[in-house]
Amino acid sequence: MMNAPPRRAAVIGSGVMGAALAAHLANAGIPTLLLDIVPPEDSGVDGDPASPEYRNAFASRGLARAQKAKPAAFYTPEAARLVSVGNLEDDAERIADVDWVLEAIVENLDVKRTLFERIVPHLAPHAILTTNTSGLSITDMAAVLPAPVQPRFLGTHFFNPPRYLRLLELVPHAGTDPGVLATMRAFGENVLGKGTVVTKDTPNFIANRVGGFAVMSVIRAMIDGGYTIEEVDALTGPVIGRPRSATFRTADIVGLDILVNASQTVYERATDDECRDYFSPPELIQRMIKEDMLGDKTGSGFYRKIKKDGKSVILTLDLDSFEYRERQKPSLGSLDVARSVEETGPRIQALIKGKDRAGEFVWRTLSEALVYAANRLGEVADDVVSIDRAMKWGFGWELGPFEIWDAIGVDAVVKRLEKEKREVPAVVREVLASETGSFYQRGKDHSLSYFDHGKRTSVDASATAIDLDAARARGKVITKNAGASLIDIGDGVVCLEFHSRMNAIGADILGMMTAAVSEVEKNHEALIIGNYGRNFSVGANLMLLLLEAQEGNWEEIDLVVRQFQKACMALRYSRRPVVAAPFAMTLGGGCEVVLGASAVSAAAETYMGLVEVGVGLIPAGGGCKEMIIRGLEGAPDVEGLDLLSFTRAAFEKIGLAKVSTSGPEAKKMGLLRRSDHIEINPDRLLYSAKEMALGLARQGYRPPDPTLEIPVAGESGIAAIRAQLYNMSEGGFISEYDAYLGEELARVLCGGEVPSGTRVSEQYLLDMEREVFLRLCGQRKTLDRMQHMLKKSKPLRN
Ligand code: NAI
Repeated sequence: MMNAPPRRAAVIGSGVMGAALAAHLANAGIPTLLLDIVPPEDSGVDGDPASPEYRNAFASRGLARAQKAKPAAFYTPEAARLVSVGNLEDDAERIADVDWVLEAIVENLDVKRTLFERIVPHLAPHAILTTNTSGLSITDMAAVLPAPVQPRFLGTHFFNPPRYLRLLELVPHAGTDPGVLATMRAFGENVLGKGTVVTKDTPNFIANRVGGFAVMSVIRAMIDGGYTIEEVDALTGPVIGRPRSATFRTADIVGLDILVNASQTVYERATDDECRDYFSPPELIQRMIKEDMLGDKTGSGFYRKIKKDGKSVILTLDLDSFEYRERQKPSLGSLDVARSVEETGPRIQALIKGKDRAGEFVWRTLSEALVYAANRLGEVADDVVSIDRAMKWGFGWELGPFEIWDAIGVDAVVKRLEKEKREVPAVVREVLASETGSFYQRGKDHSLSYFDHGKRTSVDASATAIDLDAARARGKVITKNAGASLIDIGDGVVCLEFHSRMNAIGADILGMMTAAVSEVEKNHEALIIGNYGRNFSVGANLMLLLLEAQEGNWEEIDLVVRQFQKACMALRYSRRPVVAAPFAMTLGGGCEVVLGASAVSAAAETYMGLVEVGVGLIPAGGGCKEMIIRGLEGAPDVEGLDLLSFTRAAFEKIGLAKVSTSGPEAKKMGLLRRSDHIEINPDRLLYSAKEMALGLARQGYRPPDPTLEIPVAGESGIAAIRAQLYNMSEGGFISEYDAYLGEELARVLCGGEVPSGTRVSEQYLLDMEREVFLRLCGQRKTLDRMQHMLKKSKPLRN
């Protein structure tokens, strides 16, 4: 049986994890009590020891740290209001009010057990108690709990930083009530947006066990083969489908002490581990710990950042001299060859075939990690899927270990292991003897199954995940071109999927937008716009625009802008509901597509904004017009409105190219409507968009009134903004060209030199957007800005 999902929570321990966890619970709308100990006398906290400020100082500091964290721990500053602070002596009774207590204090079994004994008397009879331990025994902790509490106790292991890392490992002990486990799993996924895996109560669970091994194996191989830190990071980053921070930049962020402690846990407790020795830190690491070279927290680790001539420079630890030296660009033959391979699986395959230092290193470390993961089956989890997911969600690996086995070819790996007289795990031999010879298999209908323990099992297709690849495999593509596809996702809903490079918007996508609306109006109930790329869309295809502008093809540019406007207007006036599902970068033209939709289901992690001024342009796909309309939509009475204040609000967002740092912030900025949905679980984004679209369709959706007339601020608005720009320019806050762009933008947003309060049509504003856009394309400084963005991926302030 499932319990009700927790409504209120308490987090105990307000350190690195506790404070960030409280922030994420607040993001999810859970009022959270953050408790820590009363500062001991020698703690250096100032003030009257009897005052609440003093007694709550640790938790208050934790909260303050979370409020200042970078990247941000809270979706919006306001979310922090849901966190209240206290201390374990004065506020222990308040624990009785919560449904879930999450322990996140120091990683020490005795300290944790003592805490449990203290707080358990205050626990509500239904409340769930969990620990965030990275790898201590859940069973040993459960042993000190009274019998009625034991079923409500389990491990909930979040990853740092908890807002951004998706993995949540759930660790039941033998006495955990399966209903409680199911409740926390559903809660973790639906409310906190996590990807959950259930792991066995073994040292460090799944991700830190397998991931920790991978790090230790890399360090050994580096020392044995005399590789440099730069070489190792080049070989263990994106090229093999791992994060850009690779091995040592990650280690510096995480902290060497944390890595070593985690290894120690395995070394001490997993005495049967065939690779136990790997978890004992080599001399290099011991020396770094001794000399306090723990990474970012102590200022130096594998890398050290220094200031040189006013610039920050990153130095690297030289392993021979143990001194920091300038960074060296690694030169690794087969690495450069492999880089040209687009897909990760084949790229790894190409890399390990290399007969040079690069190839040897990757083969050695990767094969060790693959064998190690295979040997953990049945120990840390029963199935390959949980292990793969844990590595992808917790460590940001693009492919899990068993997916890599398949990508390289189980057969090929086994042959090479045998040739090197290395042991082949039994499960791998079984897989090899199976029908497909691979861990995973796709059926004709794209359904996925996996092989382990001598049998093939289907991977549960979640009811809330919309699989576009499966739909493709089942022949559900209605039409497609190079940039986008129109896919029937069932129940009368069609998905418009962008798939151009970086999902940049060009003529192909624009054509498909208009075609999508006609198709859906004729044959379906609703349209959603979404995709599974890295970003929803980075905006219009700047490269093409720059080429046309350099050639002076004004007619061509005029045509494309008209097409953009027409496509966004088609969305806006579609007789069937259109729901956009933005996530990650949703910039410029991408943002305008979203503004054109009838409603939005946005990912909590949505970085959205009209950033055109960064490349010397203004939004011209209806973005300016839409921001004016959005402002007015929220206004109580259109008559007698302070039009200038609305215009200013839109001006500030577009003029400063503001980008939201989250979905909720995009709402605050007026880029989303209050009624729009924020989806915290990225796997459910298309599903929630589809449900929303169907809901609108069933309610008898009607598009907005096409005779809409928009009151504009007119010439007095322009004058007011011009004065503001003048002051900013005089004060040296903006460049002369910024001021010029600002004035052009102001003219569009104010509807031109007309009396304030004049009502204009949507088309009137669209025409102004287009005229100004074209004029800006003819400016040298705009072209320079575009070029700079394409080359350097950041704006030029000229
Ligand atoms: P931390 O050292 O930053 O914070 C620990 C907090 O616990 C401090 O605020 C301290 O005042 C408080 N504390 C100490 N003794 C206490 C007691 N007896 N009662 C109440 N509070 C007490 O530790 P961190 O890194 O936040 O780790 C917390 C837990 O989360 C540990 O179990 C750790 O293994 C786990 N964890 C840590 C991760 C990380 O990256 N730091 C990642 C995942 C899990």
